[in-house]
Amino acid sequence: MNSTRKPLIAGNWKMYKGGLAGVELASALKKVARDVPNVDMVIAPPFTVLAACAHEVEGSSIAIAAQNFYPKNEGAFTGEVSAPMLRDSGCTWVLVGHSERRQYFGETDASVAERTRVAIAAGLEPIVCVGETLAERETGQTIAVVNRQVSAFVNLLTHHAVIAYEPVWAIGTGKTAGPNEAEEVHMAIRAQLERRGLGMTTRILYGGSVKADNAAALLACPNVDGALVGGASLEASTFGAIARAAQGLVSSR
Ligand code: 13P
Repeated sequence: MNSTRKPLIAGNWKMYKGGLAGVELASALKKVARDVPNVDMVIAPPFTVLAACAHEVEGSSIAIAAQNFYPKNEGAFTGEVSAPMLRDSGCTWVLVGHSERRQYFGETDASVAERTRVAIAAGLEPIVCVGETLAERETGQTIAVVNRQVSAFVNLLTHHAVIAYEPVWAIGTGKTAGPNEAEEVHMAIRAQLERRGLGMTTRILYGGSVKADNAAALLACPNVDGALVGGASLEASTFGAIARAAQGLVSSR
């Protein structure tokens, strides 16, 4: 972490906790948020509980993200949800281009860029996700792949946007990039941001099997500004431990 950027710990609930359990988790996290005043906390529940979670965390420092949206404001698009609808539900953030969207739902660099543009136009702060597959890493293409993914949307970003580096092979597998591996990719992303005048302000999160016991080492990297957490964000105790690790690093400066 770097002292000019406030750490951001985001929880991507994926397709879990879509009912009462989600509201209960949001409620439990309000207590955590009070313990971590120097950390921004964002949670991304499923669509079905966005409004209820937004209501639940009102008055706390926790912000609500959606996991996806359709990049049209309204229309005959059965089953889809627009950015203005997310705003109406209490969201201020949205994940864009998560690898599971790229892998299972046909998202491409072009559709990720389009969603980034529409999210910003609607007043949502995007967390745009990038990351290489295992095959790409093993063939030495990591930096080239991530640079290509970032270059598709970097010229659309404002100071509020966030980039998440999530190596696909580290998601849900228990394998994490080591701090040096993460920092190398974050530095490459930072260099692209610097060329756009966004290097100092834009937060770059690491995601992929972040847990309470590896968070501090990853967050200690100068270009890692926070974490995008999947599995460990589904319990207040484990997500809270990661947020507290970030708070601990800020306090020890
Ligand atoms: P895990 O933390 O479960 O590996 O998931 C990471 C992720 O995909 C967050 O968006």
